[in-house]
Amino acid sequence: MKIGVIGLGTVGFGAVEILTQQKERLEKQIGEEVIVKYGCSLDEVTLPEEIIYTQDFHDVINDEEIDVVVELIGGTTIAKTIILEALKKGKHVVTANKALIAHDGQEIFETASQHNAKIYYEAAVGGGIPVVVPAKEDLIANEIEKIEGILNGTTNFILTLMETDNLDFDEALTIADGLGFVEADASLDLDGIDAAHKIQILAMNAFEMFFDFNKIQATGIRNVTKKDMDYAKKLGYRIKLIAQAKKLDKGYGIDVSPTLIGIKDIVANVNQAYNVVEITCNYLENVIFYGKGAGRYVTASAVVSDIMKTHRQDMWKHDYQYEDRIYPITYSKYYVRCDHPLDIDYETYFSQDKDHIYITNKIELDELLEQLQNETYNLFKVKIGRASCRERV
Ligand code: HSE
Repeated sequence: MKIGVIGLGTVGFGAVEILTQQKERLEKQIGEEVIVKYGCSLDEVTLPEEIIYTQDFHDVINDEEIDVVVELIGGTTIAKTIILEALKKGKHVVTANKALIAHDGQEIFETASQHNAKIYYEAAVGGGIPVVVPAKEDLIANEIEKIEGILNGTTNFILTLMETDNLDFDEALTIADGLGFVEADASLDLDGIDAAHKIQILAMNAFEMFFDFNKIQATGIRNVTKKDMDYAKKLGYRIKLIAQAKKLDKGYGIDVSPTLIGIKDIVANVNQAYNVVEITCNYLENVIFYGKGAGRYVTASAVVSDIMKTHRQDMWKHDYQYEDRIYPITYSKYYVRCDHPLDIDYETYFSQDKDHIYITNKIELDELLEQLQNETYNLFKVKIGRASCRERV
């Protein structure tokens, strides 16, 4: 197997290191040589001497010897050209590019299928956590009903810091940024866009549809205040940025939003930059994937696994139908904080200082918003507890 790695940043360099360090063991596993022939990057890097360094990705995709092209430059422009060109030449592609798969996946999958090439993107969701392929292959006996989880490590780190160190959002953001956690375009993390890319990819594999990314409603964590966190805690909840996807009668519910989760729930206890994905399905009931969602070797681990997978029989084709009946999931319990008492149906209520805090009964958001007309309030979804399979609603 001859590999060309395009993009030698944190993850790309990590992948080259793992492929070099684990060469013998990997070769034994797949029964053939594993050779990194090219490393391609605009920035000069020092590579093991047997690897050809180039700044021109054409050197990699035009080389007939290359079986697998690894795209790790990110973005949706040159990366797309590289992937499409490589697939058109019948080369298998491995990528961690969540934005590109979420936006242009359908075109990429069609190109792969037309040219009998494989495309794998495990590293796009949950860093190194094996969730994309296992959710597809190992749950094949099941119909997947719902996927939800914490898919963005940066925002989870910020929320954790706000809670543990008693910080405001801006203070926690400054620390996360200083540690290099925040994407160059901070909005991807903070406004829930990165998590939306990832839930789109998980939903696509679970429900066998290519979902129109532009229809996915994403709300990030900019509105989450320390005060709301404290009130949530008093009520027995923690606030997390939750990405969700499930079937609805009218289509599919896919969204990202700050959500209150009962403090005893496993998901509420996933802290720091960790990710978690919970899948609800008809036979296995609930299964949870948990681990680090970012980092050099963490993500490179998934990249290398994908490279190895290109050498075995594929279990599924990416022949998805296009789906744009996507809605936010709005039938929920809600946390509402208001500066005076409200006339709403609620499960829990307390008041502190000038604030009145409610956990509502389950209600459609439109109906609740109507009741909140002319009010000043802060509002988040509340995660509904896990029902056992038999009594699921
Ligand atoms: N910004 C992303 C996160 C990086 O925080 O999860 C990994 O996809």
